[in-house]
This record gives sequence, structure tokens and C-alpha cells, in this order.
Amino acid sequence: MNLILLGAPGAGKGTQAELLVKKLSIPAISTGNMLREAIANGTPLGKQVKKIMDEGSLVPDDVILDIVAERVSRDDCANGFILDGVPRTLAQAEALEARNIHIDHVVSIEIDDSEIEGRMTGRRVCSKCGASYHVVANPPKADGICDLCQSELIIRKDDTVETVRHRLNVYHAQTEVLKDFYSARGKLRLVEGNQPIEDANRDILAAIGAEV
Ligand code: AP5
Repeated sequence: MNLILLGAPGAGKGTQAELLVKKLSIPAISTGNMLREAIANGTPLGKQVKKIMDEGSLVPDDVILDIVAERVSRDDCANGFILDGVPRTLAQAEALEARNIHIDHVVSIEIDDSEIEGRMTGRRVCSKCGASYHVVANPPKADGICDLCQSELIIRKDDTVETVRHRLNVYHAQTEVLKDFYSARGKLRLVEGNQPIEDANRDILAAIGAEV
């Protein structure tokens, strides 16, 4: 089961990916988390992408494709994987095909732009594992602490109102077109994102024929 989660910033891709990992027992590959980890570790990749990510623009396609191709070739992806936040441009989607990275379903989590701001201002993420929480909709068990790895929760640098608006514009300009791309291949599944997290998860599982 090779899945792509598509959707605007804040649609719930990371949140749903975490739930799907548990239910489907396949890994989630979040390019955003991988890049943030590279920045935190001060690697050459991290230094290359920091400014781009802080301003909410897209990292160059070739950088992303190298990371993803290497990651999906690892043993833990043998039974499937969940791509969270990639592909994000037509060039990335075409390159996945060119590299014979097969995709079974593309789930687009649909949410109105008007909902995004509230989600982002309430979001807290784990400084270590990247897990995503919301102060109201999905609070951690202990205030400011990650349920999964007990590390500190922080506010993402690109979650300011201005940067979120820019990221939303980038999504509409460069990523939304992927819905047509995958619809033409019979792989697109639309799921309502503006509903409680567990309900959206149930609908995703139904859309990919994996009710558990
Ligand atoms: P990335 O980390 O992928 O960010 P994004 O796509 O903007 O998505 P987000 O992580 O902001 O949102 P999400 O949909 O995962 O929502 P979440 O589940 O957290 O990318 C960051 C940057 O990296 C990019 O700007 C770019 O620079 C670079 N990058 C990454 N991939 C790239 C690529 N392929 N190509 C080029 N550049 C790339 O939920 C949001 C909040 O809402 C949380 O607080 C959550 O708890 C809450 N929430 C979730 N679901 C619900 C619900 N149903 N009801 C109420 N609240 C909910």
C-alpha cells in the first residue's frame, strides 16, 4: 500500500499520517520533518534549505527527489509507505513516475482556506520527532510535552500568520494541480478534512479500501 497524502498546509496530513502508521503498519515519510531534522542537526542540507523553509517557499525539486528516492528504497518500505507533503509540484509527481515509484492511492484532505489560520496558530509540534498537536483539537496528555517521545513541544517557525498565507498561495499555485494529475490516473480520493480527526481518519481508511 503506497499512499500519498495531499492537502493544503494545516489540512491534517501529518496528523493523519501518524494515525495511518499505527493502523497500516507502514512508515510515514514526511519531507517537511526530514528537512526540519536536517536544519536542527546543522547538516549541509539543513543549511541549504533553512531560509527557503522559514519563508514558506518550496525547496528545489531535485533536492526533494533525492531524499525521497533514498528513503523509499529502505527495507521498512517493502510493504508500503505514506508520503506526507510530497510530491508538491508536477515535476515531483512526474519524477516519481519516471523513477518507477508506484503509487496506489492519493488522498487529498480537503479543507477551506478560512479554517487554516486557526489550525496553524494552535499547532504545537514535537521538537524531536515532529509529532503534531493542537492546543484545542488535539492536545498532548501533558502540557507542552510530546506524548510519543516526551520531548518539548514548540511552535514551528513557518506558522506565523504571514508565512502561512504565503504557504497557502504556494499550495494553490503549485500543488493543487496534482489533484488533476492523479485524478486522470484514477488514483485521487477526496476526503473531508473539516471534521474531527478520528472521523477524517475513518474516511481515509474507507477511501483506500483499508477499513480496520
Ligand atoms: P510541511 O512540513 O510538509 O508543511 P505543510 O505541507 O505546509 O503542512 P503542515 O505540516 O503545515 O500541515 P499538515 O497538513 O501536516 O497539518 P497537521 O497535521 O500538522 O512542509 C514545510 C516546508 O518544507 C514547506 O513549506 C517547504 O519549504 C518544505 N517542503 C516540504 N516538502 C516539500 C516538497 N515536497 N517540495 C518542496 N518543498 C518541501 O495539522 C495542522 C494543525 O491542525 C495541528 O495543530 C493539528 O493538531 C490540527 N488538526 C489536524 N487535523 C485536524 C482536524 N481534523 N480538526 C481540527 N484540528 C486538526
